[in-house]
Amino acid sequence: MKTIFSGIQPSGTITLGNYIGAMKQFVELQHEYNCYFCIVDQHAITVPQDRLELRKNIRSLAALYLAVGIDPKKGTLFIQSEVPAHAQAGWMLQCIAYIGELERMTQYKDKSAGKEAVSAGLLTYPPLMAADILLYNTDIVPVGEDQKQHLELTRDLAERFNKKYNNIFTIPEVRIPKVGARIMSLQDPTKKMSKSDPNQKAFITLLDDPKQIEKKIKSAVTDSEGIVKYDKDKKPGISNLLTIYSILTDKPIPEIEEEYTGKGYGDFKADLAQVIINTLTPIQQKFYELMESSELDEILDQGAEKANYVANKMLKKMENAMGLGRKRK
Ligand code: TYM
Repeated sequence: MKTIFSGIQPSGTITLGNYIGAMKQFVELQHEYNCYFCIVDQHAITVPQDRLELRKNIRSLAALYLAVGIDPKKGTLFIQSEVPAHAQAGWMLQCIAYIGELERMTQYKDKSAGKEAVSAGLLTYPPLMAADILLYNTDIVPVGEDQKQHLELTRDLAERFNKKYNNIFTIPEVRIPKVGARIMSLQDPTKKMSKSDPNQKAFITLLDDPKQIEKKIKSAVTDSEGIVKYDKDKKPGISNLLTIYSILTDKPIPEIEEEYTGKGYGDFKADLAQVIINTLTPIQQKFYELMESSELDEILDQGAEKANYVANKMLKKMENAMGLGRKRK
């Protein structure tokens, strides 16, 4: 069975973009692959976090993974900082990464733009992400479009390590969904939807209530034409909403366009809000049940145990390959 690894940062409540671009794929893929799903809290601290908020977000994200349908019997769900091998392997990979290639990462450029103080961790984030992936002999990494460049760097680092030291890493493939790989902001459809957007109206979180969802969709930026038609370049706003509608209902976009011929954006937006509410209501019910139960901690404990076992084996191989410490079996 092939192995899948993916991670999500607990840097806020996850958005509909994270769900469509990443989590929804995870739920579908878990039946066919050996899966590791990670709450990457060490990545989250590359930008300032409030410690109490971070703790809350870590737990919520764990509950959301399960609430959307991740089955802990099928895959391994764990918190990155509870598996120290990630930081250890991340350090080794930093030592073979070049500053120039890290500075070229668009996520680094975006997140550091205009900031006076930028943490060193923000720059060295991709080798830590590579460590996450490479520790598990990962074959496939399902992510949204924005992570493609980090995956290319992961492959380069793995190949560099294999060539320079010992051929120990599997070279992972990226898996990006055909539709929905980049869900856009509701307020500026030329920007990706992000949980760290300062404008709350720009994104829908998985825990938004029906009123918030209705309001956010109603105020989503479209165009003045009033025709429900997909045209990514000329009508980015309505095209983004059509993409969301299509993915959540499994209806092809042309069919939706047909249904709304002669109707305006008002009708379409009201129906889309309802589609989102119908998707999120059962997830939220499950989420609140899980947050109350002790099941969540048991699952995370078991996940950490399994992940530590697998990751430590690869860590030892890396240390032996690089000549660190004393030779052990
Ligand atoms: P993060 O936390 O920003 O996002 C988690 C996942 O959601 C996808 N995503 C989107 N997909 C579609 N439309 C959007 N608007 C959108 N916004 C986010 C992301 O592509 C991602 O798949 N560096 C990663 C976390 C990470 C990771 C890893 C991922 C750390 N280690 C190892 C895979 C493997 C990140 O910041 O994702």
